[in-house]
Amino acid sequence: MYESMKGMLAKANAEGYAVMAINAVDLEMARGIITAAEQMNAPIIIDLLQDQIKRYFDCDILTQPIIKMAQAAHVPVAINLDHGHDIAHLKRCLHEGFSSVMCDASALSPEENAKVTRGIVELAQTYGASVEAEVGNMGCSVGADAHFTDDQMYTDPDVAIKFIQDTGVDCLAVSYGSTHGDYPEGYVPTFHFDIVEKIKASTGAPLVLHGGSGTGDENMRRSVEVGINKINVGTDYMIAQREFVAKTLAEDPGYNWPQLLQDSWAAGMEVVKRYIELSGSANKAF
Ligand code: 13P
Repeated sequence: MYESMKGMLAKANAEGYAVMAINAVDLEMARGIITAAEQMNAPIIIDLLQDQIKRYFDCDILTQPIIKMAQAAHVPVAINLDHGHDIAHLKRCLHEGFSSVMCDASALSPEENAKVTRGIVELAQTYGASVEAEVGNMGCSVGADAHFTDDQMYTDPDVAIKFIQDTGVDCLAVSYGSTHGDYPEGYVPTFHFDIVEKIKASTGAPLVLHGGSGTGDENMRRSVEVGINKINVGTDYMIAQREFVAKTLAEDPGYNWPQLLQDSWAAGMEVVKRYIELSGSANKAF
């Protein structure tokens, strides 16, 4: 069934677990995520990164087929625009039927971020959609400006608390140690859980971990304990599929292409199922 994030995160918040939000760029990847959630009887969020859907399949093409899959699913499924920093495009996504959007104005001052986000919260309400926002910066380990999260980038809890109160967002992404993308072999990031604890104690709001890939099982469990209710994972899902394709073609270069597409999302499903288990959302569909 197709839902916004609002209800599923409120339930996760009340019962002390996190809902997994997995990045997809096409129908096969979305199907793998939904099928994994069905097998685990878990609620799930399909995260469609704004930069990627603009580059590969835009919202006017991709949204309706995924909504149809979500409606047919036996578990709650939300579609969320991930890192929506182009506000005109974000509005198009709402118009196309996204049940949830992330308004990422975190590059602006806290006051400007709150002002832009407040406007999107009001607009999203007219669509019955939920809104995620971000305070702080998680950085990214890939690309020209690659850098891990450092002291300058952590979320200031007092700023986040005021932001939640001023905007009425449904959930807030906070920076407390993770970085988007792949970490070097053996690297495990250092987390400052006190940041999450302080924001949670003051607001009780659902909080979001971005850059979930490579977080490590113990950090993931502790994140859920201190109040994270949505965990974003993209890289690990994609690596599992890429490794499957590389291995399969190395063994059999003539492997049937449609079958390879099908089998690769099935390989990615195992990663999604492992994260569902870690997040505590298995058997929490209803
Ligand atoms: P990873 O690709 O590091 O798992 O991050 C995903 C994410 O946070 C998307 O917003």
